[in-house]
Amino acid sequence: MWYGGYLILRTNNELGLDPEEFLVYLVVFYNIINPSKALSTAFYNVQKGLAAVTRIDKILDSKSNITEIRNPVSVKKFAEQIEYKDVSFKYKREYVLNNINLTIKKGKTIALVGQSGAGKSTLVDLLPRFYDTTDGEILLDGINIRNLKINDLRELMGIVTQDPILFNDSFINNIAFGVERADEGKIMEASRIANAHEFIINTKEGYNTNIGDRGTKLSGGQRQRISIARAILKNPPILILDEATSALDSESEKLVQDAIIKLMENRTSIVIAHRLSTIMHADEICVLKDGAIVERGKHKDLLLSDGEYKKFYELQSFS
Ligand SMILES: Nc1ncnc2c1ncn2[C@@H]1O[C@H](COP(=O)(O)OP(=O)(O)OP(=O)(O)O)[C@@H](O)[C@H]1O
Ligand SMILES: [Mg+2]
Repeated sequence: MWYGGYLILRTNNELGLDPEEFLVYLVVFYNIINPSKALSTAFYNVQKGLAAVTRIDKILDSKSNITEIRNPVSVKKFAEQIEYKDVSFKYKREYVLNNINLTIKKGKTIALVGQSGAGKSTLVDLLPRFYDTTDGEILLDGINIRNLKINDLRELMGIVTQDPILFNDSFINNIAFGVERADEGKIMEASRIANAHEFIINTKEGYNTNIGDRGTKLSGGQRQRISIARAILKNPPILILDEATSALDSESEKLVQDAIIKLMENRTSIVIAHRLSTIMHADEICVLKDGAIVERGKHKDLLLSDGEYKKFYELQSFS
């Protein structure tokens, strides 16, 4: 402004500036300040973003070992049975599952029991193809699951794992995760069935309360009930419950237990539990030991046969 003023006031100069021109200059100048500021902050943001992008790219570009075949078969429903045929599996060198043969008919509940490290979680992880079998095959309604669309296959299953996967978001978004356009009424209905509604509405913002990174603001039992509500909302024909009631006091265990029993109604379920009360009513109980099924049958028969299951049972009745 000083220099412009100087040019105007120096009359009769070749380099002189008209007042009109100076005004135009001022208007242009004021209009340019904000965009140019924005440009420099944008540049700064781009730099910040680039740093993040390289890290995100690393995750997005990572190749999964689980691949679809060229023309995968689409499945929309589960009609008859799941069959594990001579399935063996190793993570690295040692086999953790050996020659598993297991048929799960539609509508039945199969329970897996066994010591920690026996291979129970591994056995169920093979079904949604979190890992692929090393030997043998798993058939869903007679089709090898490797030939199915992975999305379709997983769409058929609801999974409540030992360590529920929750996100740094609200209750409502965590429960609705994976279900497109879920309506609020249905979400609340699912939470009621999962015995989660009560504690959710008692939080500050109800369903919109943030649950913290991986659900750290919740107790273990609350986290599990959220993941059960998620499974109920998804309403899948096949249900996988891995140790869903571990690490709970008896009161919350009862609440979770209730929720699970309601969830299992009219579904095909594979249940893993240390507590035998959970699985006494299963259609078939398989006892796993060192990666093999060593005993199978109904609760009553297994008790009579005086084997591993009976040992488990006695230990629990004792405690
Ligand atoms: N990602 C992995 N990589 C390598 N080995 C693994 C992996 N996950 C599990 N294992 C091994 O496989 C075996 C079976 O583990 P799995 O998790 O199936 O046991 P589990 O029966 O579910 O035990 P728990 O009752 O404690 O949950 C264990 O010896 C374990 O050390
Ligand atoms: Mg496990």
